[in-house]
Amino acid sequence: MRIGILTGGGDCPGLNAVIRAVVRKGELIHGHNFMGFRAGWRGVIECDTVELTVSNTRGILHRGGTILGTSRTNPYQQDDGVTRVLDTLRRERVEALVVIGGEDTLGVARKLAADGVNLVGVPKTIDNDLSATDFTFGFNTAVQIATDAIDRLHTTAESHDRVMVVEVMGRHAGWIATYAGMAGGADVILIPEEPFDIDEVCERIRHRHQRGAGFSIVVVAEGAVPAEGTLTTQTGEVDAFGHMRLGGIGNQLQDEIEQRTGFETRVTILGHVLRGGTPTAYDRVLATRFGVEAVDAIEERDFGKMVALRGLDIVRVPLEAAVTELKTVDDRLFDAAAVFFG
Ligand code: F6P
Repeated sequence: MRIGILTGGGDCPGLNAVIRAVVRKGELIHGHNFMGFRAGWRGVIECDTVELTVSNTRGILHRGGTILGTSRTNPYQQDDGVTRVLDTLRRERVEALVVIGGEDTLGVARKLAADGVNLVGVPKTIDNDLSATDFTFGFNTAVQIATDAIDRLHTTAESHDRVMVVEVMGRHAGWIATYAGMAGGADVILIPEEPFDIDEVCERIRHRHQRGAGFSIVVVAEGAVPAEGTLTTQTGEVDAFGHMRLGGIGNQLQDEIEQRTGFETRVTILGHVLRGGTPTAYDRVLATRFGVEAVDAIEERDFGKMVALRGLDIVRVPLEAAVTELKTVDDRLFDAAAVFFG
């Protein structure tokens, strides 16, 4: 079978590990051949391709980013986008696709699958907000990078008696903030799922300082929002999938906390640092297992599915189970993190 592979949406440590696994098992065990589409759905629309073989996908397991490149192109947003996708697949005699992406890329995959395109999805995002899988690859790496940063900020916060605000990615869900905040001993964690009251945040910090602590660590997800009527936030540009460009809540918190408490406050925005560099061992293994399962699903012509982690097992779930609803931080996890606030 001739199989196409693409990586779409924000990049994520572990993408190359999936590509390597798909090609290795697909070529050596199943006898398929592979082509990559460059820059996500854009490469399919524009027929921008590259041959993928066992030999040219060697040595990429530990490399961050994606050798195929990525973009946030949405074929459904372009007049002839879907027609061009179908033309490319026909012209290049691609019989099946491995689509590696998050909610947006897999949302496009779900629609194409419903229109008869043979494909299998692989869940990727540092945000860990895809339903139907316990974890996405990339998340563990992002949490580790954020935790290392918080550890470092801890010592400088302590030396200077400062409040440190650490902004992490997480547009709709606060998984990175919650995990890294718990692992790094944060005093306040703010996530999109729990709108915050700035007065309460400042009160918690004051209370902590009254009890003798000279410093505080506040971890905030970029998508965290103030409770209605408590604070006005800025808005930004919107991408092809209708998502607003975020990043800025940390700066605002820095100013508000300093003004309201009088404690010297600094902000560090980790942003894309969380998406860069080498994947952790956990993410390399998860990504490899996903890739192996995805190519097995294709071999069995089990299309319209996404590979997923359930407990210790890699399973296949219908694509719509993954993209219909976002997976947000559950209350019990956040309650456990909150035990250590203030
Ligand atoms: O979707 C993953 C993510 O990392 C979000 O947390 C973040 O809002 C977004 O990507 C930023 O993407 P970019 O700046 O690459 O468009």
